[in-house]
Amino acid sequence: MPKKVVIEVKNLWKRFGDRVILKGINLEIYEGEIFVIIGGSGSGKSSLLKHLIGLWKPSEGCVCVFGKDLTKLDDKELDRIRLKMGYVFQEGALFDFLTVWENVGFYYLEHTKLPKKVIRQKAIEILKKVNLDETVADLYPSQLSGGMKKRVSTARAIAGEGKIILYDEPTSGLDPITSRTIDELIVSLRDKLGSTSVVVTHDMISALKIADRIGFIYKGKLLEVGTPQEILNSSNPFVREFIEKGLMVIEKS
Ligand SMILES: Nc1ncnc2c1ncn2[C@@H]1O[C@H](COP(=O)(O)OP(=O)(O)O)[C@@H](O)[C@H]1O
Ligand SMILES: [Mg+2]
Repeated sequence: MPKKVVIEVKNLWKRFGDRVILKGINLEIYEGEIFVIIGGSGSGKSSLLKHLIGLWKPSEGCVCVFGKDLTKLDDKELDRIRLKMGYVFQEGALFDFLTVWENVGFYYLEHTKLPKKVIRQKAIEILKKVNLDETVADLYPSQLSGGMKKRVSTARAIAGEGKIILYDEPTSGLDPITSRTIDELIVSLRDKLGSTSVVVTHDMISALKIADRIGFIYKGKLLEVGTPQEILNSSNPFVREFIEKGLMVIEKS
């Protein structure tokens, strides 16, 4: 059976004045896969993710999600597509002044007239999917560990319809053990919800562990796309250098 393409990026260029951030990216992401974007700091990973959710508009080229060209949608249509997409920001970006359940149920609090009690219950159900329980519901983000914060932001990202989940550096700043539990969470959510996941990381261990396919970005160019095995066997010198550095960390840890 042919794979269904849910995100299609065609000849995407992004410029800020003279600076060229993304250079002619072409990419297809399939339904239900975990696609991991790797690359060094400043290579354009977060910028690419921001285009996938329509937060940034390309200078040239286009991004289609579920067959719709994001660059041609008005704000209302874009909102409707975004409902199907959850975004776990690099720094978690939880609202500090809201409790855990209010963060997770934020969409429902803002956009529906459901009673608070019902939304709180909904939020607790969603928290269970990321292996957190009711005891954290009334805490504030400042009372949580780094790993728990990531779980809560992941819960918020899947609170909508969760067809596509985008993660920006979900394991950065976490210790290796917590990082592995976040990796397992990403895989288990894909298995449970059948969602398509796009994960940005510079963590080679994570990438090899969770990816169906990996894309390597270098200075705004998508240099290589392949299965973890294909990436490991890549003959591209930039890919090799990145992998070897990443694997040195594996040997040390
Ligand atoms: N709003 C912006 N204006 C100008 N340059 C930006 C902006 N955001 C990011 N950049 C630049 O784009 C490049 C890629 O950034 P980014 O996508 O955040 O990289 P990564 O996530 O791979 O570390 C960097 O050189 C960064 O300085
Ligand atoms: Mg980044």
